[in-house]
Amino acid sequence: MLFNFRLYIIYYVNLTILMNKLLNDIMSNDLILELILDFFTKIYIIYSMTRENALKLLREKLKNKNLFKHCLATEACLKELAERFEADKDTWALAGLLHDIDYEETNADPIRHGLVGAEYLEKTGLDSTIVTAVKVHSGHLPAESKLDWALFSADPLTGLIVASALMHPDKSLKSLNTDFVLRRFKEKRFAAGANREQISTCKNLGLELNEFIEICLRGMQKISEELGL
Ligand SMILES: [Fe+2]
Repeated sequence: MLFNFRLYIIYYVNLTILMNKLLNDIMSNDLILELILDFFTKIYIIYSMTRENALKLLREKLKNKNLFKHCLATEACLKELAERFEADKDTWALAGLLHDIDYEETNADPIRHGLVGAEYLEKTGLDSTIVTAVKVHSGHLPAESKLDWALFSADPLTGLIVASALMHPDKSLKSLNTDFVLRRFKEKRFAAGANREQISTCKNLGLELNEFIEICLRGMQKISEELGL
């Protein structure tokens, strides 16, 4: 018994010395300290997903400025749509802002687009309705909720609106109106990447195309300076 107790004391003293040494090493090593701080900062960001923190995450994940602006534009549309449907504005806006968070990461393997992002967002503890909408927007799940349809149909519309602004003589969002964008919508070869069929699914929200365009255009016009248009 006495022998075991001595052993215990020896282990305890050695462990204390070891821990002290480890802590001293960590505190005197700027790189390790920085890594630890970075780790806890990320945990903090993840578990308090305010818009500001969502923007920080997005800036970390997306380096392409146009892609970043596309996310801001989608956020603006979703916010405006949430107002129209009296839905939770913050939730819808976050879905718009973060829906393409994995875009650059999945560049080489586009089939994973949406899945990687959804998995990442799920880990942050974000509302499951956002996680589902992210999977839906890239075709990995069928749309069911209003948020699913809103994100699915607004995503390509932002591109059409930006292209419309760029071809307008003023090159400005504020100079656009619904009719101008609607005419561009009907020109199939104009901004062909903006999937007209997908945009037209706004009817699943109970919206006619012109009203849908009007709502999204209004949302994007509100942040024209951030979009640089
Ligand atoms: Fe998108």
